Amino acid sequence: MAEEFDLVVVGGGPGGYGSALYAAAAGMTVAVVEKDKVGGTCLHRGCIPAKHYLETATVFRTVAGAKEFGVQADQPEVDLGVSRDRKDKVVNQLWKGLQGLMKRRKITTFSGTGRLGRDHLVTVDDGTELHGRYVVLATGSVPRTIPGFDPDGSTILTSDHVLELDRVPASAAVIGGGAIGCEFASMLADLGCQVTLLEALPKLLPGCDADVVDVVVKAFKRRGITVRAGVQVEGHEDANGQVTVKLGDGEPVTVDTVVVSVGRRPLTEGLGLEDTLVQVDEKGFIAVDSHQRTAEEGVYAVGDVVATPQLAHVGFAEAIVAVRDMLGEELQPVDYGKVPWCIYCHPEVAFAGMTEQAARDAGHEVTVSKHSFQANSRAMIVGEAEGLVKVIAEKRADGKAGAILGVHMVGPWVTEQLGEGWLSLNWEATPDDMGQLIHPHPTLSETFGETVLSLTGRGLHG
Ligand code: NAI
Repeated sequence: MAEEFDLVVVGGGPGGYGSALYAAAAGMTVAVVEKDKVGGTCLHRGCIPAKHYLETATVFRTVAGAKEFGVQADQPEVDLGVSRDRKDKVVNQLWKGLQGLMKRRKITTFSGTGRLGRDHLVTVDDGTELHGRYVVLATGSVPRTIPGFDPDGSTILTSDHVLELDRVPASAAVIGGGAIGCEFASMLADLGCQVTLLEALPKLLPGCDADVVDVVVKAFKRRGITVRAGVQVEGHEDANGQVTVKLGDGEPVTVDTVVVSVGRRPLTEGLGLEDTLVQVDEKGFIAVDSHQRTAEEGVYAVGDVVATPQLAHVGFAEAIVAVRDMLGEELQPVDYGKVPWCIYCHPEVAFAGMTEQAARDAGHEVTVSKHSFQANSRAMIVGEAEGLVKVIAEKRADGKAGAILGVHMVGPWVTEQLGEGWLSLNWEATPDDMGQLIHPHPTLSETFGETVLSLTGRGLHG
């Protein structure tokens, strides 16, 4: 006899636990089926551990640069094993907190792999049967691999392996120059690894504004990262504990370690969808409408398993949409064009809205303002003046700036600074609205203030 719940969630990552917490807060009875640990990729094998190691790199850089401030410190050395232990501590504390939160909301967690059958019946692999009035599928994603580059955890690594390293490899080829590739390249290079970053497309960080990418590439090159964009990876040969990566049109690269970061694919194997009306697209993503509904009534899908930005905060937003739909409440579908993006390489990248090119391609008349952190006093004090803020606004018929279409940042702490950028975009503010607001001095945020002010036609400092 199946246990009854208002909602059964399959997968306990941000999309899944987000659905569970929101539904439980609305008074629904909720079960979550999780095969590993609640928290999912984000907490255990993604965002949180990756940012921990990037912080290790920041501490390393800070100590290495201490002399410039008159602070005497020896050239630092890193013990990645110690950093890994600290990462485990941070992750475990957050994991414990999440489990406590779910318990307090009376969410029942079932350990195992869930399979969806007919009529909203979810079977856990130990035979437990759960029936939900509604079901959320939130099984997430796993790293994609390249044919011929089978991850072995020692020379060919995925992000999962990099986050468990206990020593920094002497050299690494990072294949894929997206968010994960750039974060790892940056972190490994800061910790003393000789990094070659290989990207198939002509530029790193596809989807980011070209001016932002230029800053990142310059900074990477100055820190000794070899950036090779527009290259085809054709296989590898292994000899004497080293790997030689063969490239279609250029010199091969010989390294100790290869990191494959060419995207993540949705995970639906074993989920039993073939017995249901739930559809998957040609890439394996579960098809949903703007309310996260699959083709099977009462069954929803959220997070990395649907073809939307693979970001934890998008998973949370989709979870809220799904649960509100179940409750018959008013809701706003996720506006994917206005989602904030944060990439934690050094220098950091953060943006929301359209790039200048995308805005022009979409037929907008645009007006653009860019301001460098070189002129920002706080950035100079901190010693991190590399980077810029770029705001793209609609150009109205009278030539003035209208709605903000995109905010792009690269530089110190921009992942925290983006706040007012995504807020102004989502609030449909204009540079006139934003330019009237006072930014505290001296702060890094003044650069955004100056950028919107100059879009009004009257900047103070340029
Ligand atoms: P991605 O899709 O962002 O980037 C993969 C990159 O690999 C692309 O630039 C692609 O052109 C390149 N590529 C694909 N095949 C290749 C090949 N054979 N040789 C060379 N280059 C190749 O995927 P990534 O970086 O693995 O991240 C996975 C997901 O996780 C993404 O959706 C990303 O948005 C998300 N993520 C977000 C983070 C953040 O926002 N801070 C951090 C990490 C991941």
